[in-house]
Amino acid sequence: MKILIIGAGGREHALAWKISQSSEVKKIFCAPGNAGTADIAENVEIEETDIKELLEYASKEKIDLTVVGPEQPLAKGIVDLFEEKELRIFGPTKNAVEIESSKIFSKQFMERHRIPTADFKIADSLEKGKEILGSGDFSYPVVVKADGLAAGKGVIICREADEAENALKTIMVDKKFGEAGEKVVIEECLFGKEASFMVFSDGTKAVPLVTTMDHKQVFDGDKGPNTGGMGAISPSPFIDKILFAEIMQTIVYPTVTRLLEEGRKYKGVLYVGLMLTENGPKVLEYNCRFGDPETQAQMLRMDGDLVKIMQSVIEENVFEYDINWSSRPSGCVILASGGYPEKYEKGKPIQGLAKLSSLSGIEAFHAGTKKEGNNIVTNGGRVMGICASERTLDETMEKIYMAISRIKFENMHFRKDIGAVKEGKK
Ligand code: AMP
Ligand code: GLY
Repeated sequence: MKILIIGAGGREHALAWKISQSSEVKKIFCAPGNAGTADIAENVEIEETDIKELLEYASKEKIDLTVVGPEQPLAKGIVDLFEEKELRIFGPTKNAVEIESSKIFSKQFMERHRIPTADFKIADSLEKGKEILGSGDFSYPVVVKADGLAAGKGVIICREADEAENALKTIMVDKKFGEAGEKVVIEECLFGKEASFMVFSDGTKAVPLVTTMDHKQVFDGDKGPNTGGMGAISPSPFIDKILFAEIMQTIVYPTVTRLLEEGRKYKGVLYVGLMLTENGPKVLEYNCRFGDPETQAQMLRMDGDLVKIMQSVIEENVFEYDINWSSRPSGCVILASGGYPEKYEKGKPIQGLAKLSSLSGIEAFHAGTKKEGNNIVTNGGRVMGICASERTLDETMEKIYMAISRIKFENMHFRKDIGAVKEGKK
């Protein structure tokens, strides 16, 4: 089979790595890919959002299966487009993607179907937003969210009234997140541990992946602004068997079933971002795709053929193929460019990668990297994810940090407390 993977992040490198192990696969293409995917796939210079170009390429190259990494092409309707032309593609259709692309849709969907989530109100103007904040319905801290896609950055947690009003202005008047901020969701702030819970959904049935925990804030001890994710471990240390069953029963099954009933059959990976509160698990957000960096940690634990699983999702018989997971934990630490998630510089040569490849049990999944002559240089905020899976979480993290000590680039930044859950930091 010929496989086309869309995207350029660590998630896509990890998917390409896993897919390359499939007995079904002859050749992998990655659009646009990065310096890491270039080693196992042929990179194709097409932007991930250029869905018409991608369609043309897939038809011309006779791609047997296209796998979509990021949310933007999904929200633009890439799956609908490919399906019209009878090209196989893994991911949900545009109307199912709305569960991520519109926070208002997803909050109202959860309210309609009593799926546990934070209380909320919607504002379609600055005045309405101020009125909601002034009504006393919400105590502080309160959360203000842009309605549309904002690359994980459109969520502002406000400790007091001034901050909340500023957040409304930033989103609705200054339009920091563009059109995504025409409407906002104002919601109750939830407290607890966060978890990322993913399932393969074939439209009617769902099979869970192993649980994970992301580390969203940029600095140690969960300080600083939120990022796309600075590291992940699997499993989540906070989800036992009972809680796992509760999440499936009260959140995952109702989500998949109700979406189907509403004419939005969901096929692909459904990612549920959860807050594990004193009153049970509640949904923070849905994503219509694999998580990043979570997927990097998950792929290390997957025993089995990812292509076969994706085929079973497309063919709507996800129970046909048994996925096995290693019982060993795994971890991923992101090496980022100094300054990320705000301004950062690109083009810094990365040293030490050759030393890494001689280490067994370490996978370095590239994200913002590119080849420049004989060098590999930085090309984004999140540069790469260093991953391992050992007998215990401690051994796993020790191995990862030992590997990181061999890598260097100017202004390299990473968190030193990924997986440090025992000290009560999480
Ligand atoms: P979202 O994009 O909606 O997942 O939000 C991004 C991050 O903001 C989440 O991972 C949480 O850390 C935080 N967040 C979002 N909604 C809430 C909430 N209601 N209460 C507390 N934290 C939240
Ligand atoms: N790591 C968070 C996400 O993939 O949305």
